[in-house]
Amino acid sequence: MTRSALALATALLPTVRSLALPPRLQHVFDLAVSCGNDVLSVADIGTDHGLLASELTKHFQSVIGVDKSEHALQGGALSRDNAGRNVDFRVGNGLQTLRRGEADVVCIAGMGVHTMCEILDPHSLETIDTQHLVLQPTNSRPKHLMLLYEFVEGHGWSVEDECILYTQGRWYITTRFDRSHPFSSYKRSSLPGSILTTKASMYPEFSNYKDHHVQWIGQDKRHTGKMSDADRRWLEILPRQ
Ligand SMILES: C[S@@+](CC[C@H](N)C(=O)[O-])C[C@H]1O[C@@H](n2cnc3c(N)ncnc32)[C@H](O)[C@@H]1O
Repeated sequence: MTRSALALATALLPTVRSLALPPRLQHVFDLAVSCGNDVLSVADIGTDHGLLASELTKHFQSVIGVDKSEHALQGGALSRDNAGRNVDFRVGNGLQTLRRGEADVVCIAGMGVHTMCEILDPHSLETIDTQHLVLQPTNSRPKHLMLLYEFVEGHGWSVEDECILYTQGRWYITTRFDRSHPFSSYKRSSLPGSILTTKASMYPEFSNYKDHHVQWIGQDKRHTGKMSDADRRWLEILPRQ
């Protein structure tokens, strides 16, 4: 086969990447799939248009899409043709519609960190026995991500992986947290971006993000005369990484 024919054949080969998802949601999909082949069920909280939930059916045996707005579901997920797909859409608040064992992985994207923290009620997560979280908040400022990380890590989860994407004028940091084993050795809390500093494919984008926010935090300080404690702690870790 000639080199150009080989290149064409390779381009036409089916790939694991989905063409149906925007790149932002592809990161959520990829981190959910990275939980392993023995991880069979997933829930997408705040599913809305249902794109992510539909796509997750390609990897998971059971997918549940939850939205608190019936209107959003009717106009979004339920208006799509999901015939033959193993996806169940439910109206409800956060994790409340899920029963034990129904979601090995919980994905939440497209919400602010405060809403996410409200949804990630530790008791509910314990009750449904979820082992993995994949979170992509709409706020990307370090102090907001610090709030999310401290909340989640403080309730017994550890950062397993991170992705970063700049699209449509915004950064999106997507994080996979795994439930810490109660007997595992003590794991230091991670700061947002610590894994990205070690990922060659993501480092250039993280570097842009870091430069942008270092400048932004400095500007804020000049205007207000102070710096939030979360920003200070995030900045302190950077030179040591
Ligand atoms: C901006 S959309 C995000 C859709 C999709 N996850 C994405 O990232 O493109 C947010 C959705 O979350 C839903 N939502 C907000 N709070 C919720 C909650 N506590 N429980 C379930 N759904 C919620 C809203 O109704 C809305 O449809």
